[in-house]
Amino acid sequence: MTIKGTPLVEMRDISISFGGIKAVDHVTIDLHPGEVVGLLGHNGAGKSTLIKCLSGAYQADAGQILIDGKPVTIENPRDARAQNIETIYQTLALADNLDAASNLFLGRELVSPLGFVNDSKMEAETRKIMQRLNPNFKKFNVPVSALSGGQRQSVAIARAVYFNARILIMDEPTAALGPQETEMVSELIQELKKQGLGIFLIEHDIHNVMKLCDRASVMKNGQLVGTVNVDEVTDEDILSMIILGKKPEKAA
Ligand SMILES: Nc1ncnc2c1ncn2[C@@H]1O[C@H](COP(=O)(O)OP(=O)(O)OP(=O)(O)O)[C@@H](O)[C@H]1O
Ligand SMILES: [Mg+2]
Repeated sequence: MTIKGTPLVEMRDISISFGGIKAVDHVTIDLHPGEVVGLLGHNGAGKSTLIKCLSGAYQADAGQILIDGKPVTIENPRDARAQNIETIYQTLALADNLDAASNLFLGRELVSPLGFVNDSKMEAETRKIMQRLNPNFKKFNVPVSALSGGQRQSVAIARAVYFNARILIMDEPTAALGPQETEMVSELIQELKKQGLGIFLIEHDIHNVMKLCDRASVMKNGQLVGTVNVDEVTDEDILSMIILGKKPEKAA
């Protein structure tokens, strides 16, 4: 599978060090619209650090980020949002005591012409987007602390989608979820793909990678081992990239 056209995101030759440690060492990855690219590697490989340069949490020491082929400067999370980049962290930043709608609009509340927070409009909008993303979601009027892990994920995903994310970063979205919840998040990811979003997915479970990702980029000790099309490799090929740092011969 060769993907043509200008990538949605290119991270070129990115490096970042902490003290003496090269957490990310000259790494180049890219992402196309409607594509899920898995980021794999052992603990400490540099996955989260790399992706934090895109979400604006860190600034790279060297390298370039291009969106739609144009170089951009991302110095903070606000710059990332301005590029329609949204991040969903494993430890979800939801306000536990608020309901789904209040979380969806947290910090970006809808207000009436007189300047009052428009709760009913926010709930209606939340229902609308949940209908599209997760029609089984019914818990609109309870604090999100009463939701399951998967339901919380769907609120976070709805928030990103509502605010027009084109590029979604998901750092181990299913790590804390049971099989059914994982299935629900998988379905959400497929749905977002269909809508043309590009997704960077940090994922440890090879089974999920094979199922959800179009390509996988593997890191080891801060360096990129390689990027493969998942339908051209086996689970073992990917495991050997992760463990041995070796790219399979047959992969381009
Ligand atoms: N803020 C920081 N200060 C110092 N060192 C850091 C910082 N963030 C990450 N590191 C180091 O950078 C390296 C890469 O860490 P990173 O969190 O990117 O790994 P990861 O691939 O996401 O691992 P995991 O799978 O465990 O989440 C590690 O050696 C880590 O200790
Ligand atoms: Mg990490």
